[in-house]
Amino acid sequence: MTTTFNRKNPCTAKLLKAELLTVGCSEKDTWHNEISLQGSGLEYLPGDSLALFSHNSPALADELLTALGFSGSEQVEDPDGAPTDIRTALIESYAITAPDKKFLAAVDQKTAATTAFGELLAPDRKKELADWLWGREVIDVLLEYPDAKFTPEEFVSVLKKLQVRLYSIASSLKAQPDEVHLTVATVAYETFGRKRQGVCSTWLAERINTETPLRCFITPGKGFRPPEPDDETPIIMCGPGTGIAPFRAFLQERQATSAKGKAWLFFGEIHEATCFFYKEEWEHYLADGTLAKLTTAWSRDQQEKVYVQHKILENAAELWRWFEQGAIFYVCGDANRMAPDVDKALHAVVEAAGGKSPEEAAAYIAQMHTDKRYRSDVY
Ligand SMILES: Cc1cc2nc3c(=O)[nH]c(=O)nc-3n(C[C@H](O)[C@H](O)[C@H](O)COP(=O)(O)OP(=O)(O)OC[C@H]3O[C@@H](n4cnc5c(N)ncnc54)[C@H](O)[C@@H]3O)c2cc1C
Ligand SMILES: NC(=O)c1ccc[n+]([C@@H]2O[C@H](COP(=O)([O-])OP(=O)(O)OC[C@H]3O[C@@H](n4cnc5c(N)ncnc54)[C@H](OP(=O)(O)O)[C@@H]3O)[C@@H](O)[C@H]2O)c1
Repeated sequence: MTTTFNRKNPCTAKLLKAELLTVGCSEKDTWHNEISLQGSGLEYLPGDSLALFSHNSPALADELLTALGFSGSEQVEDPDGAPTDIRTALIESYAITAPDKKFLAAVDQKTAATTAFGELLAPDRKKELADWLWGREVIDVLLEYPDAKFTPEEFVSVLKKLQVRLYSIASSLKAQPDEVHLTVATVAYETFGRKRQGVCSTWLAERINTETPLRCFITPGKGFRPPEPDDETPIIMCGPGTGIAPFRAFLQERQATSAKGKAWLFFGEIHEATCFFYKEEWEHYLADGTLAKLTTAWSRDQQEKVYVQHKILENAAELWRWFEQGAIFYVCGDANRMAPDVDKALHAVVEAAGGKSPEEAAAYIAQMHTDKRYRSDVY
């Protein structure tokens, strides 16, 4: 595969279609996005991610301008040194949500007040600074210390460049030529009485249309790939939430190439009725044999939470048989809570169904890692 696209030279693609996957669900919005690559020459493999440039919320940029006392037309340089007005720079080029240390140090120096974070900027107080910063954004700091005055140039000089966000690709070029599909959860939460929105996920959900240039490039999945089509190795895929994305790509690819090995998919979301992403596709794959088994966990459809790891434990005997047949276990999605819990469940499977001690189970799982039969793509 040859591609010349990268961070410095991104490809420009266009949205074809955006479909809400969580219709009727009040707890979350997760979108299926289809992007056209026609004429771009951008190529990818199952397991790759798409790195996407996005823009900040204009409403947030305007709040910052008001707090700073700027009109928005003041001239500054963007992070690459190109001249622009500050409003455009705040929307398109600079990171204006998470406060950078350089910005905090500048506020601490400019205000007459003793800031709550000044002493936490010391290198040995990283954890305390992170705790203080949790849920706070640049706007909160500016509003808390209004006597910290910046010139437009000074202000942008203490901001970082707006970074790309990565999304696991949810399609295969063999099944969807000239397209790339994504499964994106809109990040939205409230802290300190203020509604917050994830930069890129909200931009995708609310502020782009089929004419918006989508600047992107591929980041390779490294080891996170399905086996070759003629390889009979079974695969087990565990992808709750947006973790499902790469497995849709795997299954599209495996159907298109008539892959020989059997495949088992674990999926979890909050409600079966409103969050069963890509349900008809899985049913189709079960019918034609692309998928041997689908196991689901609906966390909020009953009193007690039911997660994928509970389903893993329920299926211990059969999972153990698949492991002993050399299956590869893939996990994708939440890194903080889900992936460690799924890992614990795998240890329990090896102990309970494989008749191993905790130490032997740990060695068995470690060997799966060494043999590249346990692969993670978590975030
Ligand atoms: C390899 C890889 C693949 C990925 N694949 C996907 C994918 O397929 N689909 C997908 O949706 N995402 C995926 N992600 C995550 C994605 O890259 C973004 O991180 C995500 O969309 C959020 O970006 P954002 O710009 O919308 O939010 P940001 O503006 O970056 O805000 C996110 C930040 O907000 C804060 N935050 C979030 N929730 C809360 C809360 N409840 N309370 C307090 N603070 C909070 C946290 O600091 C968090 O880091 C992937 C990430 C990686 C690294
Ligand atoms: N760090 C956090 O606190 C946090 C919280 C939410 C999402 N996120 C991030 O937000 C992004 C999008 O999330 P998403 O929409 O893909 O899905 P998600 O929030 O990961 O949820 C998908 C499913 O996983 C369940 N789940 C929650 N905790 C779990 C655990 N320990 N083990 C197994 N399953 C668990 C959820 O149940 P319930 O929601 O009913 O518990 C839900 O049914 C991801 O990047 C994720 O990492 C982070």
